[in-house]
Amino acid sequence: MLLLLGTNIGVRAEGYDEYELHDRIGSGNPQSGEAKSREELCQGCHGEQGNSTSAEFPRLAGQYTGYIIKQFRDFRSGARQHHVMNAVAGSISDEDLTDIAAYFASRERIRAKQKKPNDIAERLYRTGDMKRSILACSSCHGGAAQGSYAGGESFPVLAGQHKLYLREQLLKWRSKERKNSPGGVMNVVAESLRDEEIEALAEYISSM
Ligand code: HEC
Ligand code: HEC
Repeated sequence: MLLLLGTNIGVRAEGYDEYELHDRIGSGNPQSGEAKSREELCQGCHGEQGNSTSAEFPRLAGQYTGYIIKQFRDFRSGARQHHVMNAVAGSISDEDLTDIAAYFASRERIRAKQKKPNDIAERLYRTGDMKRSILACSSCHGGAAQGSYAGGESFPVLAGQHKLYLREQLLKWRSKERKNSPGGVMNVVAESLRDEEIEALAEYISSM
């Protein structure tokens, strides 16, 4: 079934086994999700297949379905604030959302051709700085920033995301303008990041 799914909708299944693919895409129907995401104009902002070209709109292509759904519900309840998405999220049913999320999750994200080396960012990404409660990003977001899935929870893919969006979110975690991560973990991680470290991390991760 999943393999069939894979061929039907052109999921890039390389490197993912069947179970991992299921964790990434979930139980929604990507084909109906594609149609619904067009009707609901998601692609108008988030780009063709979720690969937006404007940094104002985060890329959704290749993102974990569980993460997409959680964010959507957080926008709906107000746990995550954004004037546009709070309005968008109010008008879509959970069934449609499950399909739309499956569609974006099944798309391949456009990625940078070359990684931009950056010592400060690489060190923080891989080992963190425990003196300042900065946990290694890789421990949750994965060594290649492809996200991870554990215990029913998905940690978002960061690789290939727009630099400006990543920077904005890190600033929002730090100022606690965004505080919807489980147990406030991202607020703890970002609390003592310096401006230049946020800049370096955003640049480095967007090129991963
Ligand atoms: C008018 C433009 C617009 C439309 C239409 C729109 N979005 Fe968004 N969306 C945004 C913006 C802007 C953000 C970034 C919010 C922020 O900075 O916190 C966002 C963020 C998101 C996020 C969070 C991404 C992340 O990495 O955390 C998800 C998920 C999302 N949108 C899903 C959708 C879906 C699904 C649809 C269609 C039903 C949709 N959006 C329609 C503008 C839009
Ligand atoms: C203990 C686990 C953990 C660690 C360590 C961690 N993160 Fe996160 N991060 C998360 C979770 C969980 C989310 C999703 C939160 C939510 O549900 O809104 C997240 C979300 C994010 C987002 C928002 C993504 C989006 O699309 O909006 C960014 C950016 C981010 N993390 C960057 C980092 C960076 C950079 C580091 C290292 C300095 C890091 N994270 C370390 C768990 C972690």
